[in-house]
Amino acid sequence: MSAPASPESAVAKRRTFAIISHPDAGKTTLTEKLLLFGGAIQLAGEVKAKRNRVSTRSDWMNIEKERGISVVTSVMTFEYGGRVFNLLDTPGHEDFSEDTYRTLTAVDSAVMVIDAARGIEARTRKLFEVCRLRDIPIVTFINKMDRETRDPFDLLDEIEKTLALDTAPVNWPIGRGQHFAGTLDLANNLVRRLDADAEPTPVSGPDDPACIGLLPEHEREAWLEEVMLAQEGLKRFEEAPFREGHLTPVFFGSALKNFGVRDLIDALAAVAPSPRGQEADKRLVAPTEPGMTGFVFKIQANMDPNHRDRIAFMRVCSGRLQRGMKAKLVRTGKPISLTAPQFFFAQDRSIADEAYAGDVVGIPNHGTLRIGDTLTEGEQLAFNGVPSFAPEILRRIKLSDPMKAKKLREALQQMAEEGVVQLFLPNDGSPAIVGVVGALQLDVLKERLKIEYGIPIDYEQSRFNIARWIMSDERGEVDKFVDKNTSAMARDLDGAPVFLAPSAYGLKYEEDRHPAIRFTDIKTYQ
Ligand code: G4P
Repeated sequence: MSAPASPESAVAKRRTFAIISHPDAGKTTLTEKLLLFGGAIQLAGEVKAKRNRVSTRSDWMNIEKERGISVVTSVMTFEYGGRVFNLLDTPGHEDFSEDTYRTLTAVDSAVMVIDAARGIEARTRKLFEVCRLRDIPIVTFINKMDRETRDPFDLLDEIEKTLALDTAPVNWPIGRGQHFAGTLDLANNLVRRLDADAEPTPVSGPDDPACIGLLPEHEREAWLEEVMLAQEGLKRFEEAPFREGHLTPVFFGSALKNFGVRDLIDALAAVAPSPRGQEADKRLVAPTEPGMTGFVFKIQANMDPNHRDRIAFMRVCSGRLQRGMKAKLVRTGKPISLTAPQFFFAQDRSIADEAYAGDVVGIPNHGTLRIGDTLTEGEQLAFNGVPSFAPEILRRIKLSDPMKAKKLREALQQMAEEGVVQLFLPNDGSPAIVGVVGALQLDVLKERLKIEYGIPIDYEQSRFNIARWIMSDERGEVDKFVDKNTSAMARDLDGAPVFLAPSAYGLKYEEDRHPAIRFTDIKTYQ
């Protein structure tokens, strides 16, 4: 990566984003096509090939090998149109985990991929909600227009209603399914043909033969009406509400046919925000400030179980990170040497000489760094961006060898610090409960406890299914509640009180009875 002239120009060039979608909507296919534009990979298919490649790195990575999925949230950096794009991968399938959520705290915008036949699906909605916490601007890509789809108006309506997000279609599909022939740019009357994606053709309007002529005769009249309705009745794209996260520009296309991807990446280059200021406990940190700051949003255990190395993924928030510099780890006040920060290129790594706001670097360490940690050049300041999300699955740990109880506690503590699982220690002294967002996390924990710590475990159902952190603005309320509900209370890794409920009904019951207490499903670190 060539060294930009100044932090200002480096920051202005950067676009740090993620793709959010439900499994099978086409995220991998779209990622491949985006990387192709950036020249980061030579052949489409490489993302998947890497995903499936046999891992020789360690035994616990067998899970990855067996299931052909990636446990690693990787960062892909590529350049296109004078911009540096950092695409943060959010695991999609069973490997869905808290990492997926946390990664979204490190991006400045997101592309929401929707399957045109399915519309908004459960996972998309959840990920969108996490984006909304920070009002992250969203660009929508309605994919698979080359297959049978739902009515475009229906799809837009669904986005507006289920996500409370205004939509502004930028282009409109010319035909659908078998008859999908391209798109019309609604504001500029430009036609992009499916069979000639490179340059759009200017047309006089939708009824120009170069546009309407792409459709079979019997579809033309209805399509003209549809476009008129879209042009007159739907919102136009505006930058301000998009930047505030209230309006999404919508593109129709087909990732498989590499169609509409150019419009999407051009839009990201043109309107997606460059790295924005980050809220810290004391002040807002501007990306162009000279002092280097950053926060850790993910920890990846090293693949070599003999070394227990970890890589901490840090988003740089300001200044210039230089290889070899000393930074301060704010939580402990101790210095940490950035001797070998790494950049990620698809899943290959290279040593980073310098990085700017919006970049993500991997910092190898032996357990010094934790999720949520802030690094600075000396300033006492902590970013408050990386939250914990209430787990969706709770399990009790069953240990067959009671002699290993102490070792298990230590191992669980380490795994929880790494963010593999959340750990809840019941106040009544009963066995630890682990919480996860995706079931694969349970498999990873079990496998790693066995391989790395020599502790075989099993899981058993917990009588609890819901965990909520409890807070109150009124002094003493939390303590009172904890005392009254000892058998349903636990402490998390930081010692914060957590209420455990068997069901949504049980939670609601307590919520109604304790209006002074907030039961939250998101907790901010530090
Ligand atoms: P994901 O990462 O979001 O889970 O989705 P992925 O890209 O793997 O795509 C899921 C399936 O949808 C794949 O088919 C892929 O080829 C297909 N697909 C993606 N985009 C489009 C599109 O624009 N049009 C059509 N018609 N299909 C699309 P598969 O059969 O499950 O996998 P594969 O064997 O083809 O790789």
